[in-house]
Amino acid sequence: MDFRVSPRGQIAGRCRVPGDKSISHRAVMLAALAEGESRFGGFLAGADTLATAAAFRAMGVSIDGPHEGQIAVQGVGLHGLRAPPGPLDMGNAGTGMRLLAGIMAGQRFGVTLIGDESLSRRPMRRVIAPLRQMGADIAAAQGDTPPLGLRPVVRLQGIDYVLPMASAQVKSCLLLAGLYAAGRTCVTEPAPTRDHTERMLAAFGRPVQRDGARVCIDGGGASLRATSFAIPGDISSAAFPLVAALIASPGAVLIENVGINPTRTGILDILRAMGGDIELLNQRDAGAEPVADIRVRASRLRGIAVPAAMVPLAIDEFPAIAVAAACAQGETLITGAQELRVKESDRIAAIAAGLAALGIAVEALRDGLRIQGGQFHGGVVDSHGDHRIAMAFSLAALRADAPVQIRDCVNVGTSFPGYVDLMRGLGLGIEVS
Ligand code: S3P
Repeated sequence: MDFRVSPRGQIAGRCRVPGDKSISHRAVMLAALAEGESRFGGFLAGADTLATAAAFRAMGVSIDGPHEGQIAVQGVGLHGLRAPPGPLDMGNAGTGMRLLAGIMAGQRFGVTLIGDESLSRRPMRRVIAPLRQMGADIAAAQGDTPPLGLRPVVRLQGIDYVLPMASAQVKSCLLLAGLYAAGRTCVTEPAPTRDHTERMLAAFGRPVQRDGARVCIDGGGASLRATSFAIPGDISSAAFPLVAALIASPGAVLIENVGINPTRTGILDILRAMGGDIELLNQRDAGAEPVADIRVRASRLRGIAVPAAMVPLAIDEFPAIAVAAACAQGETLITGAQELRVKESDRIAAIAAGLAALGIAVEALRDGLRIQGGQFHGGVVDSHGDHRIAMAFSLAALRADAPVQIRDCVNVGTSFPGYVDLMRGLGLGIEVS
């Protein structure tokens, strides 16, 4: 499936983006392990989160939905999961596989976790090594990639682990394993990363203890209590209409009901530092997460050096930020972002190749990108099967002098079902072929 996008086009209107992917994964996982029924609105019906729901169904959890975002999960308790009849297929989802590995490490049955071609190339040593320190019995393919084979062990043991990289997935994996461990499990982060797991554990009645960069959970079997909340719109999906409005002429968009957890809002800080006119309206709390409507107006952007401390807070938004940088005056420098090399694609390589294919001067660095603002031309971009690369480059057409084609866009449905209709409704001339 390819996207073909006509050049220029005006962007205007209001929209709501699908529910937050990180929160949707975690909601199903914790609800499945809780006692009682949990209900969520705004659940993301994307391929990644549906794979997580299917995995828990295969382990005996009754899940109704999602129907128009509503999902109800009958928790089976911490020790109520049953051995699935076959491997659990996590599709394209790194979050699904890494967080589930933490839960599966503590079960009294064995399980195999598999994924698609992209997920099967992604590094799992980052979760395997600390889980083994906790006593887990895990096998992986060569190079510590999926499939992961987990065998039952008598009991995990809490550890005090210093993360070698800023990763919310690894932190979350270990906190979830910590639910099944004897004693305390502590994780120290080199830089703040998204804290949805910590907030949600508290909402399910098992608060973590945080002391600076160190977060701990006590094992010991206390049950999780079912809870219900509305999942906000995903700021990582909002990034696309947001950048579209900034770079279109004229552009103006109101994106309603977006999660603005401060561990996720790096994109707003980066784009504002580039001169973006972005306002947060109607700020409020929804469950354990802050939410706002985001108003964006077309802006004259300038290149910046992105502070390394902001990188983990915008880690999924660099494809969109790179397109904004290509429309800015001057140079944008992104460093300290080597994690981009191991996302759904090697995003440093994919962004550099895509920008170059459309006539932008760009240099791929070991840990980032140097992008010179310029003029987009028409051309063909390979998304490498990466949803966010596909969506980001569809926006380049807004400033291109000829059509832009993006190859291999089917995975947009992993995080943003309805992307094409939503963007067309705002004025993007996007077609699927
Ligand atoms: C996520 C954490 C990030 C992010 C991913 C979702 C999560 O991954 O890129 O899309 O939900 O915990 P890392 O932990 O690998 O940085």
